[in-house]
Amino acid sequence: MSVFDSISSLYDRGMLPLELLLLRRLRQQIFPALRGAVLELGVGTGVNLSLYNGHADVIGFDASAEMLSWAARRDTCTPLRLVQGDAQRLPFADRHFDIVAASLLFCSVADPAQGLAEARRVLRQGGRLMLLEHVRGRGLGRCLTDLLHPAWHAWSQSCHLNRETVRTVSQVGFDVQRVERHVLGIFQVIEALG
Ligand SMILES: C[S@@+](CC[C@H](N)C(=O)[O-])C[C@H]1O[C@@H](n2cnc3c(N)ncnc32)[C@H](O)[C@@H]1O
Repeated sequence: MSVFDSISSLYDRGMLPLELLLLRRLRQQIFPALRGAVLELGVGTGVNLSLYNGHADVIGFDASAEMLSWAARRDTCTPLRLVQGDAQRLPFADRHFDIVAASLLFCSVADPAQGLAEARRVLRQGGRLMLLEHVRGRGLGRCLTDLLHPAWHAWSQSCHLNRETVRTVSQVGFDVQRVERHVLGIFQVIEALG
């Protein structure tokens, strides 16, 4: 059983303060605009699912059966299929999706470069990667994320506070188009072409 299986029933309530302060606004910027064949990695309890409009055909993918069971209860107006598996070994053909999206995923994937390389493999040529991630901050944000990372990682058993996700996105071959930074650079919206 994964950490996320055991916290699935508490996840949405635990995230509520952060959702109200920041995340909901950023999710609303990203997900309603997605169109075509969309793979949402680390879909979790499905917090983004109600935001898709009817123009996206979505596969929600996650390692945790319990998180997916909450996602299955969400209302969404988009065609949706939920699939369980590991983002580091995607069970999809090359160049299959128009968009790969994820929120708060690559902080907890064991090998983010492998996960991002898989995301790139399944994107059609010119397809888009859309991420909302928390990462290593800038300035004071960097000090904070570096300082808090060891204790947070030990407690959460999976989440890294100070990953350089944009750099990894670039290293696996994506063409980074846009990085929007929030809260000392700790939260980022990252858009890249495959
Ligand atoms: C912090 S939650 C984020 C959930 C949701 N995307 C959100 O924005 O609230 C991370 C999710 O990623 C999933 N996850 C972590 N590592 C994964 C992996 N290697 N493959 C697939 N899903 C993974 C977890 O099961 C969990 O549901």
